[in-house]
Amino acid sequence: MPETPPPVRRSKAIPVPPVAQSASEKTLPLRINGKTYYHEGDPDMPLLWYLRDVLRLTGTKYGCGIGYCGACTVLIDGKAQRACLTPVKALVDQDVTTIEGLAGAELHPLQQAWIEEDVAQCGYCQAGQILAAADLLRRNPRPSDEDIDKLPNLCRCGTYPRIRKAIQRAAQALAETKK
Ligand code: FES
Ligand code: FES
Repeated sequence: MPETPPPVRRSKAIPVPPVAQSASEKTLPLRINGKTYYHEGDPDMPLLWYLRDVLRLTGTKYGCGIGYCGACTVLIDGKAQRACLTPVKALVDQDVTTIEGLAGAELHPLQQAWIEEDVAQCGYCQAGQILAAADLLRRNPRPSDEDIDKLPNLCRCGTYPRIRKAIQRAAQALAETKK
């Protein structure tokens, strides 16, 4: 009697190593000033570096790098945030506005008021001040001087009295456009 052949042993499926993600799958889409950019580098890169070193949007300034001074303030979905403390990976599906993107066809009322009140001295902190003010007016269209004084942005030139006047002027201008 012929020997029964041994059962065929089927090899277990060998797990296929995951296909390496293509560069395009690794990119982070970032919406900045109404345009979409694709970041392929370190997802922990601070937004401030990305703006200044990659996009060359140098209106956003480096001051302290630790979230204290406000020179790097940008708007993220309309809220004032510190770009030095914000990794780009935190920005998916959010809109970033820098000082370069604040104006529409005309200057933003805050920018106009800043010119009319001749606010800037050295100018270093001013982009951050304007964006912090934009967030304040979004939350509080008619802020008091005390509300303005609570803004956390620092100005080593001491332009605070002119900042106060400019924000009040812009608030007035925005109120008139809504009448
Ligand atoms: S540079 Fe970001 S808060 Fe000072
Ligand atoms: S204008 Fe010089 S730091 Fe504010």
